[in-house]
Amino acid sequence: MRRAIFPGSFDPLTNGHLDIIKRSLPLFDEIIVSVLNNPEKDPMFSVEERCAMIEEILPSVTNGNCKLIVASFSGLTAEFAKRSGATAIVRGIRAVSDYEYELRMALMNRRLEPEIETVFLMAAEEYSYVSSNLMKQVFLLGGRVDGLIPELVEAKMHEKLSRTNAD
Ligand code: PNS
Repeated sequence: MRRAIFPGSFDPLTNGHLDIIKRSLPLFDEIIVSVLNNPEKDPMFSVEERCAMIEEILPSVTNGNCKLIVASFSGLTAEFAKRSGATAIVRGIRAVSDYEYELRMALMNRRLEPEIETVFLMAAEEYSYVSSNLMKQVFLLGGRVDGLIPELVEAKMHEKLSRTNAD
């Protein structure tokens, strides 16, 4: 059984994340999309909201052979991977600028859990500039983000915005 985790904040999930998940499907039997519960950050969506959205969207990318699971975690990614019985941590690389940070994380995770490998997958060119933070910023300033985030995520962002404006 080849099990991997795909960790991140996913605040919110973007089409770039979905692209990496799709590329991971042929490589593993099971992938745990692992949502970091980081109380220090001030997220747009709660961990529960992020997990629920991802769970609703994942069936649109499954290939039937690889099982996709959503879980939240706190603390170290490497420890969570080990606890989950995963042998790999999947991370997406969009551009050379991602590499330095990702390399440091991968090496640290390897030091913490030497038996777990980080697998880097190259994001599709059309998502090479897409990040959750950029999507939130553009959305909140009234810019178009369609095609870059799943429709459900965009709808939830609209809901969130109208609720915040009503308060
Ligand atoms: O894609 P993101 O949102 O930038 O994800 C970053 C994430 C969650 C993978 C990273 O911040 C992380 O692993 N955090 C958990 C704490 C941890 O393990 N830190 C040491 C990493 S070497």
